[in-house]
Amino acid sequence: MKKLIVAIMSAGVMVLVGVASADDDERGRRGPDVKPMTNPLYLSECGSCHFAYQAGFLPARSWQKLMGGLADHFGDNAELNETDREVIETYLVANAADRVEGRRSNKFMRSIGDSTPLRISEVRYFRHEHDEIPQRVIKHKNIGSFSNCIACHTKADLGSYAEREIRIPGVGRWED
Ligand code: HEC
Ligand code: HEC
Repeated sequence: MKKLIVAIMSAGVMVLVGVASADDDERGRRGPDVKPMTNPLYLSECGSCHFAYQAGFLPARSWQKLMGGLADHFGDNAELNETDREVIETYLVANAADRVEGRRSNKFMRSIGDSTPLRISEVRYFRHEHDEIPQRVIKHKNIGSFSNCIACHTKADLGSYAEREIRIPGVGRWED
């Protein structure tokens, strides 16, 4: 009996290891859609009210404008002390969609043109990618708005937005 349990357990471990490395391989080959955010100050300050968005979805000028108006941030006060504000702005600008290479960043930039959007969720390319999702789905208590990326994109924090990783609360897997 004991032998059997050990056998089952090690089979389980092998399956787990197999799954993990297949996943890593895939990510290694494809890479994330946008560069993941890693700066601890950014993650804690700008990830406290909502998902810590990747800088690679908006151009540098958008981040500068947004960081210059934190006292009235979409109706909230998100002010920081000047040192933290500068560190975060520098980080966002260095990783902005017009400063880094990446498939998604390039697509967002092509759609943004010379405009200076403050919302990722209002960029034309974003709207186009999400136009099949009805409003009643967004009203689900675990979503609330399109700004809540990680509610549906389960690996958004890794910068990964692949279709197979989408699980929509109240709906489930997304199939085109
Ligand atoms: C006090 C809470 C709060 C903090 C702190 C905060 N935000 Fe926000 N942010 C909001 C709210 C509220 C919205 C609007 C969300 C919505 O419409 O559902 C928002 C929206 C955004 C959006 C637009 C999302 C979209 O729809 O595309 C960006 C970009 C953003 N915030 C960046 C930041 C950055 C950068 C920081 C750190 C400097 C930050 N936020 C800190 C409350 C906050
Ligand atoms: C209500 C769930 C939901 C929310 C919230 C949401 N998305 Fe999506 N997203 C989807 C679905 C569904 C698709 C379409 C996938 C497809 O058909 O290929 C998609 C597509 C995308 C794509 C294109 C992926 C691809 O492989 O073509 C990107 C990039 C993306 N979303 C980013 C975001 C970001 C950034 C946010 C937050 C600002 C966000 N999404 C919020 C559900 C959501």
